[in-house]
Amino acid sequence: MTENLRENSDVSAIVTLTLNPALDISSWAENVVPNHKVRCSAPVYDPGGGGINVARVAKRLGQSVLAVIPLGGGVGDRIEALLRNEGIPIRPVPIVAETRESLTIGVGSTEDQFRFVFPGPEITLGELRACERAVVEAAHEAACVVISGSLPSGVPVGVMESLVAALDPVPVLVDTSGDALVSALQSGAFLVKPSARELAALVGRELITEAEVVTAAREVLGDSSVSTLVVSIGAGGAIVFQRSGEVLRLRAPAVRVASAVGAGDSMVAGFAVGLARGLSTQEMGRLGIAAGTAAVLTAGTELCRSEDVESLLPQVVLDPSGA
Ligand SMILES: Nc1ncnc2c1ncn2[C@@H]1O[C@H](COP(=O)(O)OP(=O)(O)OP(=O)(O)O)[C@@H](O)[C@H]1O
Ligand SMILES: [Mg+2]
Repeated sequence: MTENLRENSDVSAIVTLTLNPALDISSWAENVVPNHKVRCSAPVYDPGGGGINVARVAKRLGQSVLAVIPLGGGVGDRIEALLRNEGIPIRPVPIVAETRESLTIGVGSTEDQFRFVFPGPEITLGELRACERAVVEAAHEAACVVISGSLPSGVPVGVMESLVAALDPVPVLVDTSGDALVSALQSGAFLVKPSARELAALVGRELITEAEVVTAAREVLGDSSVSTLVVSIGAGGAIVFQRSGEVLRLRAPAVRVASAVGAGDSMVAGFAVGLARGLSTQEMGRLGIAAGTAAVLTAGTELCRSEDVESLLPQVVLDPSGA
């Protein structure tokens, strides 16, 4: 699967933008109790944030990538070093404020994790413009751009619309939530991927059955300007809605779940690699599902492995009954 991609390795085929990166610190404690010192195991540091994860997965799948990331302070330096160590090409955009950290503590022999997430540092308008210039410049060489993750404070709500307009005609894939998702849906992006949970928050009602998800997705796509809306439904796989009216129902293979962390980012990386390779929407969707499901096989914050993606790919089936 990866052979064709390696032929393209001199081109930054997938550019990712992560506006709110974090240094993810993971550790483990026997027990977490209030008011006492909680002794933790030696921390593990991972570079975190949607677009960073997408770049790491796309690279594992054999695609050339470039990650554009605003970074500040010692934490920013640490993220840059971790990514360079892993061989991920990055374009850091310096910011004045320090990049955030986030903390995950696993407890005892349980699967429970306490996840502490801090707001990102404020990004000035000048710094945001510098990110936009960096991503537009990098996109000249790119098959597509992926914008993924939350927005830091100080970033105007309509940022997705201005980014996608500035990147035109390069196709843009967006994975975000809340107000940024609302902006992405009006941006003319090529593909937007909410999870069913994010879709429910968007339409302001619970979506229990698949029929309810389909109705909500059709409403959202109808009111939007995007070409493709992919709604991921965890173990259920995903439903791909196209502006043309075509709907593809893709089932995820049944697997034993080690950790669902990183499933959505791995899935988006699969879509982006599929797009960069010129695959059909159906094949792109299958690669996305295979990568998302491969991510749940790996423990903790670990993303998907390419050998798992390759072995799961034949098991991703298109449900002929549609949606
Ligand atoms: N339990 C699972 N079994 C098999 N595949 C899974 C499972 N959970 C997730 N996946 C795969 O990962 C993809 C994305 O998962 P999901 O729908 O949970 O999105 P997410 O972006 O991780 O969610 P959110 O952003 O709301 O936390 C699914 O479409 C599927 O391919
Ligand atoms: Mg997600």
